Amino acid sequence: MSDQPPPLAGVAGWPVSHSLSPRLHGHWLARYNLPGFYVPLGIDPKNFETAIRALPMLGFKGVNLTIPFKETILSFADSVSDRAALIGSANTLVFREDGSILADSTDGFGFIENLQQNAPNWDASAGPALVLGAGGASRAVLSSLLSAGAPEIRLTNRTRQRSEILKDHFGARITIVDWNQSEEAADGVNLVVNTTSLGMKGNAELAFNLGDAPENALVTDIVYTPLETGLLASARARGNPVVDGLGMLIFQAVPGFESWFGMRPEVDQALREAILSK
Ligand code: ATR
Repeated sequence: MSDQPPPLAGVAGWPVSHSLSPRLHGHWLARYNLPGFYVPLGIDPKNFETAIRALPMLGFKGVNLTIPFKETILSFADSVSDRAALIGSANTLVFREDGSILADSTDGFGFIENLQQNAPNWDASAGPALVLGAGGASRAVLSSLLSAGAPEIRLTNRTRQRSEILKDHFGARITIVDWNQSEEAADGVNLVVNTTSLGMKGNAELAFNLGDAPENALVTDIVYTPLETGLLASARARGNPVVDGLGMLIFQAVPGFESWFGMRPEVDQALREAILSK
């Protein structure tokens, strides 16, 4: 009989108690009856590097990162994937046999996979997209839309300077739109995405009228608390196809689970219910 300890993984954050990732990975471990554990790791930022470097010695195969560690990790990871370097943050660490750290970002993958699985008729390359917000989440959304072939991305943000930084980084297919012109910029798009924190439980609503958007434009939100944001509700009411943000959270978890526990997990309704039920 093997005396290999069960593989460990987790999510490192500060605070971390809000994270749904333990529930998500725990569901997959139970469903596939795999040995292993996925745990929340609250790490004081001043101990971040020391704590992360110790994890491989404790039997961890890797971890997810959440606030405030997703950018910091890039300064000391032993290698950084191309997509993490492009996005400027990492959410998935894989520890190699020698204890070295590979930092990867699966946020863009999670975003685009969620749309492709839940709106299979939508084609990123078929028309312009409108992206609201220019923060960290927006970087992942922009990189994945560009690699999926979006011909133009209209980017709008309350603070215009942050849009300009992203245009400098991501290039000519980004068009900057003033925040107060964002509704008009929905004219002719095939996708509207909210990447701001507006509409999240406890925050102000996103005041955005979809009146200028085509009725077949796909509308999605990276906010998933509530699952049906004001933006999604108004899109649904006028007949637009809608994809909620929970799928992005779920799909970004797939590559990490596969690396750490050796099996590519399935995403289905039972998983969504398990995450939402408690
Ligand atoms: P994240 O990493 O989750 O994207 P972030 O980098 O803090 O978080 O970005 C939050 C996004 O929500 C930004 O686009 C932010 O706009 P600013 O760059 O102008 O701050 C947007 N946001 C937050 N509160 C907002 C508000 N009250 N009105 C408009 N945009 C807001």
